[in-house]
Amino acid sequence: MEKGLGQITFTLMLSVGAAVIGSLQFGYNTGVINAPQKVIEKYINETWFERYEEPISKGSLTAIWSVSVAIFSVGGIFGSFSVGLFVNRFGRRNSMLMANILAFIAAILMGFSKMASSWEMLIAGRFVVGLYSGLSTGFVPIYVGEVSPTALRGALGTFHQLGIVVGILIAQVFGMEAIMGNDDLWPLLLGFTFLPAVIQCILLPLCPKSPRFLLINKNEENKAKAVLKKLRGTTDVSSDMQEMKEESRQMMREKTVTILELFRSPLYRQPLLIAVVLQLSQQLSGINAVFYYSTRIFEKAGVEQPVYATIGAGVVNTAFTVVSLFVVERAGRRSLHLLGLLGMAGSAVLMTIALALLDQLKWMSYLSIVAIFSFVAFFEMGPGPIPWFIVAELFSQGPRPSAFAVAGFSNWTANFIVGMGFQYVEELCGPYVFIIFTVLLLLFFVFTFFKVPETKGRTFDEISAGFRRSAGGRAEKHSPEELNSLGADSQL
Ligand code: GLC
Repeated sequence: MEKGLGQITFTLMLSVGAAVIGSLQFGYNTGVINAPQKVIEKYINETWFERYEEPISKGSLTAIWSVSVAIFSVGGIFGSFSVGLFVNRFGRRNSMLMANILAFIAAILMGFSKMASSWEMLIAGRFVVGLYSGLSTGFVPIYVGEVSPTALRGALGTFHQLGIVVGILIAQVFGMEAIMGNDDLWPLLLGFTFLPAVIQCILLPLCPKSPRFLLINKNEENKAKAVLKKLRGTTDVSSDMQEMKEESRQMMREKTVTILELFRSPLYRQPLLIAVVLQLSQQLSGINAVFYYSTRIFEKAGVEQPVYATIGAGVVNTAFTVVSLFVVERAGRRSLHLLGLLGMAGSAVLMTIALALLDQLKWMSYLSIVAIFSFVAFFEMGPGPIPWFIVAELFSQGPRPSAFAVAGFSNWTANFIVGMGFQYVEELCGPYVFIIFTVLLLLFFVFTFFKVPETKGRTFDEISAGFRRSAGGRAEKHSPEELNSLGADSQL
C-alpha cells in the first residue's frame, strides 16, 4: 500500500467517505432486526390480538418475522439488478444521490408502523430499504473503484465493506434494550436510517463525478481531467488519462454490453463465472445466519448475555475489516480469500462441536463464542470485502454495470435463501446446521484455488486484456463457432 499512500487526497477521501454512507445504510439495516427480535415480535402479537382478538399462533409469528427479515433481501435482489438502468444514464454520483428517496420512504414506513398498528408497513419499509441497499451494493463499489488510483483500489474498495460492518455495529449497539431496542423506541431504531440519508444528500453534491464515466461514457475529456487533478492532487494526470483512453478505445470495439450479451459472449464467461461464484461464496458461507440470528444462536448455545456476544461479534467484524484493508494491497485478493474461506470452514467445525456437546459440557457455550468470533474474523479477511470490489476489477467500463447487476443479483438471492431458510433448517438439523456451511466453504475454496486470478496492482485494462487473451486461446483450441462470435476482440 506504501506506493499509493501519497495519492490520498482530501477530495478522494471525501468522495469515498460520502459514497460509503450507502454501505453503512445497508449494514445498519442488515443488523438492526437482530437484537430487538423479541420486542418486535411482542408488538406483532399485540397488534394481531387487537385485530383478531386471539393470540397469534407460533407458526404465523415465525412466518411474519422471517418475512420481515428476508424481504429486505428481496428488495436487494430487485435493487441490485436495476443498477445498470441508472449508472450510465444519470452517472454514478447522481445515482447514489437519487437513491436516497428510497431511504427516506423506508424510514417513514418503518418509523410509523407501530403508530399505525401495521406490521405490513414494517414489511413494506424493509422491502424499500432493501431496494436502496441493493442499489448501493452496485453504485458504491462502481464509484469507489472508478475514482481510486490503481495502487489503492483494493484498500479503498474495502471501505465499502467497512461502511457495512460499521453500520451493523451501530445497529447492534443502538438495538440494546437500554438504548433503542425496547417497546417504546424500536420504531425510532428502524427510522434512524433517515439521518445518514440526510448527511449523504449534503455531502455527495460536494464530490466529483466519476472521471471514467465523464471520459469513457460522456466523452468529456476536459471535465475528466479537471476531476482527476482534484482527486489525485496533482496537475500531471497523464498516466491515468492514458489508461482511461486505452480502455475507451477498447470500449469502442466492445460497445455497451447488455446483461444478455454478457451471458452470450465467451469473452466474459470466465470473469462472470468468477464474479458470481465469489458472491455466492460470500453469502453461502453462512455469514448472515450470524448477523441476522446470532442473538438466538448464542441463546441456544447457553450464552448468558447473548446481546453482548452479538455486539462482540460486531466489534470483531469491524476490527478484522480494518486488518484486511491494510493487508489487501500486499497479500493480494486471491490469498486472502482462500485464507478466509479455510478459516471459516474450521470455525464452522468448532461451532458444530460446541453445539453438539453443549448438553454434556457447560463450558461449550464459551467455545461457541470463540467459534463465532473466529468465523466472523476470517470472513472479513477475504470473503467479506473482496467479492464486492473485485467485480469492478474483473470487468472493463463497457460490461461493468451489467456485471454488477448479475453479481449483485446472485449475492442478494443467496442472502435471501440464508435469511429465509436458516431458522427452518436449524430446526431440522439442530446442532449440525453449520456442517452445511463447512461443505460449501470447502467447495468455494477449491474453486478459488483453481479459477480466481490475482488482480492486485493491475490496471482495469490489463486485467480485462488477460481474460481476452485466455478467451481467445480457448476459442482457438476448442471451437471455430466460438472464434467467430468472438470477432476481432479476442485477437487483440
Ligand atoms: C458482507 C455481506 C453482507 C453481510 C456483511 C457482514 O457485506 O454482503 O450480507 O451482512 O458482509 O459483515
